[in-house]
Amino acid sequence: MSKIVITRRIPELGIDKLRKTFPEAYIDYHDSEVKLDLNELRRRIRGAQGIIALLDDQLSSETLAYAPNLKVIANFAVGYNNIDTEYCKNHGIYVTNTPDILTGATADLAMALVLSVTRRIVEADRYTREGKFSGWGSTLMLGTELRDKLVGVFGAGRIGTEVIKRLIPFGPKIIYTTRAEKEHLQQLGAKYTPADKLLKQVDVLIITAPLTTETKYLINFQSLRTMKRGVFIINVGRGPIIEESALVHGLSTGRIAGAGLDVYEFEPIVTEDLKLMDNVVILPHIGSATHEARNGMSEMVADAVISALKDERPQYNVY
Ligand code: 8YV
Repeated sequence: MSKIVITRRIPELGIDKLRKTFPEAYIDYHDSEVKLDLNELRRRIRGAQGIIALLDDQLSSETLAYAPNLKVIANFAVGYNNIDTEYCKNHGIYVTNTPDILTGATADLAMALVLSVTRRIVEADRYTREGKFSGWGSTLMLGTELRDKLVGVFGAGRIGTEVIKRLIPFGPKIIYTTRAEKEHLQQLGAKYTPADKLLKQVDVLIITAPLTTETKYLINFQSLRTMKRGVFIINVGRGPIIEESALVHGLSTGRIAGAGLDVYEFEPIVTEDLKLMDNVVILPHIGSATHEARNGMSEMVADAVISALKDERPQYNVY
C-alpha cells in the first residue's frame, strides 16, 4: 500500500483526484493551516512514497533520510528552494513544482504592490479610516507616476515577463535581468541589463527571481548604496533576496522611498520596524492566492504524485 503525505491543507480538488486514482493508498493528510514542526514532519514522512509539501517545509537531506522509499516530492509552489534537489536527484526522487498556473496571479499581485506603494494606497486608506480626511487637498498624499520612470525587473522568467506586460500600459521604460537575454522581452521594448547596472539606474525595482546562491542578499547595505535615492522596491520572489536590516535602514533614511513586500527574510516573521513604516505595504505571502491558481496547483501536485507512483516521470520535474 502506498503512503502519500500531504503536509498541510490544500484545496480538495487534488486530494479527491488522489483518492480516486489510488483508493487503496494511505493518505496522511495534515488538514490544517498550521505548519508541521520538524519532528512531526520527519515522523510523518517515514515510509512515504509521495510527499505534497508546502514552500516552507524544509526538506533537507537530513529530513529526507527519514523517507527512504520516497519517489516524489510535489511542491505546492513554483519556488523549490526549500528542497535539497541535489539529494533528490542522487536518490532518484522526483521534485516537481507548479509553474504557469500561478504566473498571472503573482504578476497581478506584483502590479498591485507597485501601484499601492507608488500611489500610497494603503497609507491613504488608513488615513481615511482614521478620520483624518477633512477635505480635498492639492498636496494631500501625493504619489509617483510610472510614466517615463525606469522600472527594473530582476528575474524576468515567467512571472517577470507577465509583470513587464502589465507595466507597459503605464508608460515606464523597462529594463530586466535574467541569466540570458530574451528575444521576446526585447520585442516588448524591455532592455536586457546586467544586475549591477540595473540596480544603479532604476526608479522602481521589482524582484521576481527565485532564491539561489546568486540571488541571496542581492539587496544589502552595500548594493543599496549604489542605488538611486528614492527608489521603490517590490519583492514577490523570496524574502532572503533582500537583507531586511538593510531595507529597513534604507527606508528610514529615505534612500528607499517605499517598499511592497509579499515575502520576508525570516518568514513568517516580519521585522517590527517595517510594520511601523507608512511607506511600506506588507502582505502575508499571497502572490498565488487566488481560487483559480490554488485549485490548479492542487491538481498539479496530485498529477505529479500520480505519475511518479505509476513510475512515470512527472511533467513538471525540476531537474
Ligand atoms: C508566491 C510562490 O506567492 O509558488 C511560489 O513559490 O511563492 C508564489 O506562489 C509569490 O512568488 C510571492 O509573491
